[in-house]
Amino acid sequence: MARTALVTGGSRGIGAAISKALKDAGYQVAATYAGNDEAAAKFTEETGIKTYKWNAADYDASKEGIAKVESDLGPIDVVVANAGITRDAPFHKMTPAQWKEVVDTNLTGVFNTVHPVWPGMRERGFGRVVVISSINGQKGQFGQVNYAATKAGDLGIVKSLAQEGAAKGITANAICPGYIATDMVMAVPEKVREAIIGQIPTGRLGEPEEIARCVLFLASDDAGFINGSTITANGGQFFV
Ligand SMILES: NC(=O)c1ccc[n+]([C@@H]2O[C@H](COP(=O)([O-])OP(=O)(O)OC[C@H]3O[C@@H](n4cnc5c(N)ncnc54)[C@H](OP(=O)(O)O)[C@@H]3O)[C@@H](O)[C@H]2O)c1
Repeated sequence: MARTALVTGGSRGIGAAISKALKDAGYQVAATYAGNDEAAAKFTEETGIKTYKWNAADYDASKEGIAKVESDLGPIDVVVANAGITRDAPFHKMTPAQWKEVVDTNLTGVFNTVHPVWPGMRERGFGRVVVISSINGQKGQFGQVNYAATKAGDLGIVKSLAQEGAAKGITANAICPGYIATDMVMAVPEKVREAIIGQIPTGRLGEPEEIARCVLFLASDDAGFINGSTITANGGQFFV
């Protein structure tokens, strides 16, 4: 029987590429989004992948949404915590609201997404958790104290979940993308983007599909011995 995958933020950018790759590989896929109804409707029309709207930063909404997905598609075997935002500012100008919004979405959002599916994975003796972190969680970034803190925290989550889930057939891993050509990166001024590309030895931005292929591998049975690890996919920009 086809396995079921949930991808938060799965209607645009990296998440959309992940949703499509999982569908093409035979998974039943549910993609979530926060508020861009138009993009989600277009995505469903083009791909046939069902989209669900809830705020990953809200635990009760996540729990309720996940219950609906499971009633529509069956138990979730693969969860990809991908939804993420930036609210950049140099630290001396960063507001508590900017800090909180990013922490609530990128860090607490991972808890909210994985916690409701975890008991079912334990009971069934199988699960794949993939968290989309970032190069900037590994190296830090000017203007991103909030974002870098959450993305580093995501690595702590998977390393701990890996230890808790291993005996129950569950793996938890992270992917740290470098700069990928999505709305998030295309929103930065062109001059800044050119400067970023200058720091990437491969000489280009990454493609969302290049991250999706990492997810496919981590979700597969072949990756059963990979647990608590981080795949770095950044064109050679930073080594850990
Ligand atoms: N792009 C990069 O270069 C890059 C690099 C490293 C890491 N990442 C990470 O990769 C992930 C995806 O980034 P992206 O560039 O693909 O982003 P994106 O193009 O901005 O797409 C973000 C997706 O997440 C959804 N989303 C945002 N906040 C949400 C919330 N609170 N609840 C539910 N869904 C929410 C959005 O829904 P709506 O459509 O409704 O807004 C959208 O589907 C993020 O975690 C990001 O930090 C990206």
